[in-house]
Amino acid sequence: MARAVYLLWAIFTLLGSANIVHGSGSIGVNWGTLASHPLPPNIVVGMLKDNGITKVKIFDADSWTVSALAGTNIEVMVGIPNDQLKTLADSYGDCKDWVKENVTKHIYNGGVNIKYVAVGNEPFLTSYNGSYLNTTFPALKNIQKALNEAGHGDQIKATVPLNADVYESSTNQPSDGDFRSDIKDLMLQIVRFFHDNDAPFVVNIYPFLSLYENDDFPFEFAFFGGGSNPLNDKGLQYNNVFDANYDTLVWSLKKAGIPNLKIVVGEVGWPTDGNKNGNVKLAQKFYDGLLKKLASNKGTPLRPGKLEVYLFGLLDEDLKSIAPGFFERHWGIFRYDGQPKFPIDFTGQGQEKMPIGAKGVQYLPSQWCVLNKAIRNTSEVPPQVDYACSLSDCTSLSYGSTCNNLDFVGNVSYAFNMYFQMQDQDVRACDFGGMAQLVSQNASKGTCLFPIQIVSASERLSFAYTATIAAGILVSFFMLM
Ligand SMILES: *[C@@H]1O[C@H](CO)[C@@H](O)[C@H](O)[C@H]1NC(C)=O
Ligand SMILES: *[C@@H]1O[C@H](CO)[C@@H](O)[C@H](O)[C@H]1NC(C)=O
Ligand SMILES: *[C@@H]1O[C@H](CO)[C@@H](O)[C@H](O)[C@H]1NC(C)=O
Ligand SMILES: *[C@@H]1O[C@H](CO)[C@@H](O)[C@H](O)[C@H]1NC(C)=O
Ligand SMILES: *[C@@H]1O[C@H](CO)[C@@H](O)[C@H](O)[C@H]1NC(C)=O
Ligand SMILES: *[C@@H]1O[C@H](CO)[C@@H](O)[C@H](O)[C@H]1NC(C)=O
Repeated sequence: MARAVYLLWAIFTLLGSANIVHGSGSIGVNWGTLASHPLPPNIVVGMLKDNGITKVKIFDADSWTVSALAGTNIEVMVGIPNDQLKTLADSYGDCKDWVKENVTKHIYNGGVNIKYVAVGNEPFLTSYNGSYLNTTFPALKNIQKALNEAGHGDQIKATVPLNADVYESSTNQPSDGDFRSDIKDLMLQIVRFFHDNDAPFVVNIYPFLSLYENDDFPFEFAFFGGGSNPLNDKGLQYNNVFDANYDTLVWSLKKAGIPNLKIVVGEVGWPTDGNKNGNVKLAQKFYDGLLKKLASNKGTPLRPGKLEVYLFGLLDEDLKSIAPGFFERHWGIFRYDGQPKFPIDFTGQGQEKMPIGAKGVQYLPSQWCVLNKAIRNTSEVPPQVDYACSLSDCTSLSYGSTCNNLDFVGNVSYAFNMYFQMQDQDVRACDFGGMAQLVSQNASKGTCLFPIQIVSASERLSFAYTATIAAGILVSFFMLM
């Protein structure tokens, strides 16, 4: 009897502690894969589970990635890249095929918990010059129709993650918000469609970019500490730009006649390198404020209550375009190899602890490619550095970044090493006209990490594939005997 009671107590305690991890736990993350050496999907899924992350958003529907989420119960938003919008807008048959191959295949008992299909990614960004204006809405309608027809419509909703630049407020007061004038009619049709299909409005909000794009932006207004003058709007007080931006959308929806449309924040986060305001200290400050806010379920002045949010992002991505800025490759809460950068408490309790890093990561050997110190005449070095950086990632050398204070030798060595690691430590990639040399002593300097690359997912795959072929050959060999 006493044992049974104890057992019950133990079970409840366990359930209770599980709730602490998952309770406030509607934290989602974006899992982007624009990396030269992506981590194997099963390792990334392990990280999500270890850190109590219950939702994930991906940018395509890569079958290997999506399959790795089977049986986890993690809610998944799969994506359709912008370059597929035209085909899907033009052909309902292709949409049916897309749903069959990328959704239906994963829906079975113990399969993948797909909740949303993201049709395009920020397709109405002004920098796209209207390229996707004609195709996004037809593709959205086709995909939802195909989901409905396949019997998934009640569980899985099609939506379009949009940048916050689809709405604006000329005065910066949320109450003056409305959809951007050049796309207003289109936006009105789309939000009506979301409403009719019970799909959410997915919006990406970046306080970091408010600060980056405007030197006069009040610094503390980008964070959640309340350390700047509040903005007053029709009796409501705003002490951070996230709330003000979110409520600008709420006002735009009100004016569109759909005041209660569900909103999901598809991306929000802070980069850790590549800019004077992109560093781990400010990222930690931002996430600490954001996660505490989310755990409080306070919502925004106009929309009190629980917010649904996907953080951007899980991992650094060294192949992202740096057109928007050098910080683009440093949005990861974790580094390229899945190791944590700074303390973060996903439950919003504000505990200063490191999150749990990726387990079972395989690294290449501990060797670095650096400038050969015996080289006296360095006049030929700069073109080699340009070459190395054009084919790898030297964004950490930029102004305000972690490697910005290196001396000349450090700069050159950093560039040589990044190229060498990018090329999977191929010895031919550590030559540079005889000016480079391999060393086994850690070349990192202070805060500047000279990384060692990992054995990437794709190489593991080709290794496994080669092994399978080898096994196959062996089997045929024995069969011949
Ligand atoms: C399924 O998704 C993958 C990855 O995004 C894509 O390459 C493929 O074309 C899609 N399948 C179909 C039938 O459209
Ligand atoms: C948009 O137009 C600008 C200026 O004409 C051009 O530089 C840019 O490449 C265009 N972008 C796209 C995605 O077409
Ligand atoms: C979209 O359609 C309009 C009107 O039919 C046309 O003028 C425009 O060129 C189209 N845009 C693109 C990117 O195809
Ligand atoms: C360094 O090398 C360059 C090109 O190889 C040559 O033109 C230059 O004269 C050399 N400088 C010295 C000081 O030797
Ligand atoms: C090192 O490189 C950075 C970025 O390219 C540059 O700003 C800096 O002046 C360089 N330092 C030296 C000593 O060459
Ligand atoms: C090299 O040193 C840096 C900084 O001390 C450290 O973070 C990194 O883990 C080291 N790398 C290896 C492969 O030991």
